[in-house]
Amino acid sequence: MSCYPIVCFLFFCQVLAQERLQIVNLDAQCFRCLCYAATKCNLTLGCDGGYCGPYKISKIYWKDAGEVILPDDERERAGAYEDCAISYQCAQRVVLNYIAKYGRDCNDDGVTNCDDFTMINFNGGYQCKATLSRNEAGQSWLERYRLCNPETLL
Ligand SMILES: *[C@@H]1O[C@H](CO)[C@@H](O)[C@H](O)[C@H]1NC(C)=O
Repeated sequence: MSCYPIVCFLFFCQVLAQERLQIVNLDAQCFRCLCYAATKCNLTLGCDGGYCGPYKISKIYWKDAGEVILPDDERERAGAYEDCAISYQCAQRVVLNYIAKYGRDCNDDGVTNCDDFTMINFNGGYQCKATLSRNEAGQSWLERYRLCNPETLL
């Protein structure tokens, strides 16, 4: 990159600061609610209809989140995605990466928090602003999320 070192440094600091800001509200409680919103956090679901595990992670989501794998596994191995997504710990790392990448204020309420991360997980990062109640799957996702997080503004 062609810029003076100090300018580059400040630029990257700012990028890092923004990223941290966006995932600062992704705490343990939020992880629980994202999991509950997806499947009531059912840990024995396996894969179904292109989604795997308690967070309902699709292969595209997994790829987009940097292809997280179980320790000592290989990205190229058939089943690497499925085995990570059905492991709670591994799936949580996938969600963390995805939110770190796409985290933003999807519902325009001035804060980036678990409400936004719920929208991101259902809608995908690029079209996160779509209202969840627009279809039946989104409506149930939202209802489960509300049960888990009574403070929500969604
Ligand atoms: C989790 O999902 C499995 C498979 O669909 C189902 O048999 C089981 O009852 C579910 N567990 C809970 C706690 O809902």
